[in-house]
Amino acid sequence: MKNVLVTGGAGFIGSDFVRCFVERYPAYTLVVYDKLTYAGNQDNLRSVSERPNYRFVQGDIANHEQVRAALDAHEIDTIVNFAAESHVDRSILDADAFVMSNTVGVHVLLDEARKHGVERFLHVSTDEVYGDVENGYSVESDPFEPRSPYAASKAGGELLVNAYHVTHGMNTIITRGSNTYGPYQYPEKILPFFISEAMDDRPLPVYGDGRQIRDWLYVRDHVNGIDIALHQGEAGEAYNIAGEDQRINIDVTHDLLTRLGKPTTLIKHVPDREGHDRRYAMNCDKLRALGWQRQYDFDRGLAETVAWYRDNEWWWRKIKTGEYLEYYNRQYAARLAAAT
Ligand code: NAD
Ligand code: TYD
Repeated sequence: MKNVLVTGGAGFIGSDFVRCFVERYPAYTLVVYDKLTYAGNQDNLRSVSERPNYRFVQGDIANHEQVRAALDAHEIDTIVNFAAESHVDRSILDADAFVMSNTVGVHVLLDEARKHGVERFLHVSTDEVYGDVENGYSVESDPFEPRSPYAASKAGGELLVNAYHVTHGMNTIITRGSNTYGPYQYPEKILPFFISEAMDDRPLPVYGDGRQIRDWLYVRDHVNGIDIALHQGEAGEAYNIAGEDQRINIDVTHDLLTRLGKPTTLIKHVPDREGHDRRYAMNCDKLRALGWQRQYDFDRGLAETVAWYRDNEWWWRKIKTGEYLEYYNRQYAARLAAAT
């Protein structure tokens, strides 16, 4: 029996974790704790809302009282922390919320978890803490060289997790995932953004030359990696979770257009993201040694993802209104006007 607080469980990866865990571990109680920012969405949890082992609490990880109340009320013994501001472009426009949630929020969560006597604390981090990796593959012991405000705020959170392990002996685990994709991803990240825009015959703004490389990890493979790290990882350790499927952005864009039967004239090369990392790539032998194995290569994962966005317009069309359009204009209007 475990009572698991899943912070950020109404977001993309957190909700997949919850959908997976309510079935895989019927003896666990899964308590989603989420602030419901623009990216948090109760629709993501619709399929589990009637499950007897599912609960929902609205709250902020950066608020001591709210965190303490949730830990007490649900007798939490395990925390899996997904809660974060997650989009690099937004962190370039305004990083306040990133530092507050991704660094200060992690501190508050750790502090309350320690006082409450939480037995296991898994913190979900990212390959972006390693920075731009021109050649080779990052291993867990590599130094942090974050370059975007998002990556820096995530690195700050990780340093605090490690400090609570060393100083207070907390039982912590860190996972560092690569670029994740799949159903229910907010349509600001490149894949759901480009798929939904192309479905409406709208321009696809490719940053710079489009030759940047990302390593694509299907969301359920990411969740399976977290599962193994949570149950078998060694306290104080970090584990890379890599898709081991590196792709060049412009190739991915062509691939999507082919699958959707849309013309390449939708592609617009726009001024590059500031400080854009050219490549991320990780070695994940350490997690593999615990038994993790990828189930989805990029071709299979992308086929599933394209099919899901095609079949679930109800989910993304209502997101692409209001605040989303304000963000879209701030991020893309001038860029598209300068497109080549
Ligand atoms: P997301 O933006 O879809 O979801 C984030 C969730 O956190 C939302 O439900 C939001 O409401 C919630 N949240 C934000 N601030 C909060 C706060 N202060 N208190 C409580 N809840 C808060 O993000 P995602 O893509 O699902 O990412 C989840 C985690 O995985 C993040 O920590 C992210 O850094 C990490 N990660 C993401 C990727 C990726 O490619 N998406 C890759 C590696 C790691
Ligand atoms: P993104 O999905 O924002 O993830 P991350 O920045 O965390 O890697 O972007 C993935 C890649 O796609 C990255 O190299 C930036 C690029 N990109 C574009 O070219 N155009 C876009 O509109 C977006 C959102 C991303």
